[in-house]
Amino acid sequence: MYEAYFRHKFTDEVVLYIFLLLLLLMSPFLFIWELISNIRSFFQCKENMSGKVVLITGASSGLGELMAYEYAKRGARLAIIATKRPESRLEQVAERARVPSPDVFCMFADVSKVDECRMFVDDTIKRFHHLDHLVCNTGIGPIYSSNIDVTKFRPVMEINFWGSIYPTQFALPYLKKTHGKIIVNSSAGGVLHPPKHGIYNASKAALISFYESLRFEVSPTVTITILTIGFIKTNLITAKYSANGVGFHLKEDLGDVVPVMEAKPCAKAIVDGVCKGATSITEPRFYKALFLIKFLFPQLHRFYLYMYCLKIFNAKTGR
Ligand SMILES: NC(=O)c1ccc[n+]([C@@H]2O[C@H](COP(=O)([O-])OP(=O)(O)OC[C@H]3O[C@@H](n4cnc5c(N)ncnc54)[C@H](OP(=O)(O)O)[C@@H]3O)[C@@H](O)[C@H]2O)c1
Repeated sequence: MYEAYFRHKFTDEVVLYIFLLLLLLMSPFLFIWELISNIRSFFQCKENMSGKVVLITGASSGLGELMAYEYAKRGARLAIIATKRPESRLEQVAERARVPSPDVFCMFADVSKVDECRMFVDDTIKRFHHLDHLVCNTGIGPIYSSNIDVTKFRPVMEINFWGSIYPTQFALPYLKKTHGKIIVNSSAGGVLHPPKHGIYNASKAALISFYESLRFEVSPTVTITILTIGFIKTNLITAKYSANGVGFHLKEDLGDVVPVMEAKPCAKAIVDGVCKGATSITEPRFYKALFLIKFLFPQLHRFYLYMYCLKIFNAKTGR
């Protein structure tokens, strides 16, 4: 029995190191491939969005709002969603998008509620009769600490994960008819697992896992684009969070440790990439290198995050 175990273990290790060696030998070619793909994407044809129908969740601010303007500039007809709050800017966003776009309408709904998701997908179809792109963008990102009652974080999973799955479920039959696209806003956090974001990271990793699996079921009829974006200057990171009684400001506390990208170029890069048929988009693009480091050299990745934790700690204690 032990002999079989060690024989298996030995084969296992040999196979692992052969693969690592192959990866090392192939890396110059992979580098050239990445370079060629990027150059090619500059010249790639873009989908003509004129008259196409795009449904965007979480469009009252940040990336959702800016993606709405990008689609509107390309002539798409829009259905935009956010929750009903007295201070909601959704109607103003719709008003502004109507300047370049022929038809924009907004609906108030909570994506964590299955019936409301069914309702806004149905209402979009009633109004436009078809659907071309579904952008599952809604997300919240409170700071997590193991000292806080974990049940307080349930809405993170409900909004970030289920709030994308429900609209996808209801929109899929219509997207299949138009050979449409699903764009899902995950996060680099779902790959890199930065500290103080445990539940947020888990919700975003779950999205990646779900949509990577769904891709096999619906492709090539429906194209899925997974966004793994890093720190972008929106309400999500400029808001003041409170973790365990300690005021925490992602932008101020981390801004000089991690570069923060402006939201407008990010939204443009996303819509450009989607229209060129990209199946995954990472912005800022250097995060791709971090993903590779995480998989190949996990210790180095943890060291970086440890330094990043230390920076937060120093900022909080005034050191
Ligand atoms: N900013 C970053 O650094 C960053 C990094 C990686 C990934 N992302 C992802 O990008 C997406 C957009 O975030 P953002 O940065 O643009 O932040 P944001 O400005 O806070 O946008 C979040 C949007 O979601 C809406 N929303 C929140 N809860 C909702 C609910 N229950 N039902 C419907 N709509 C809801 C908000 O509108 P109301 O509050 O008016 O409903 C708002 O329009 C999120 O999924 C986020 O996780 C952001």
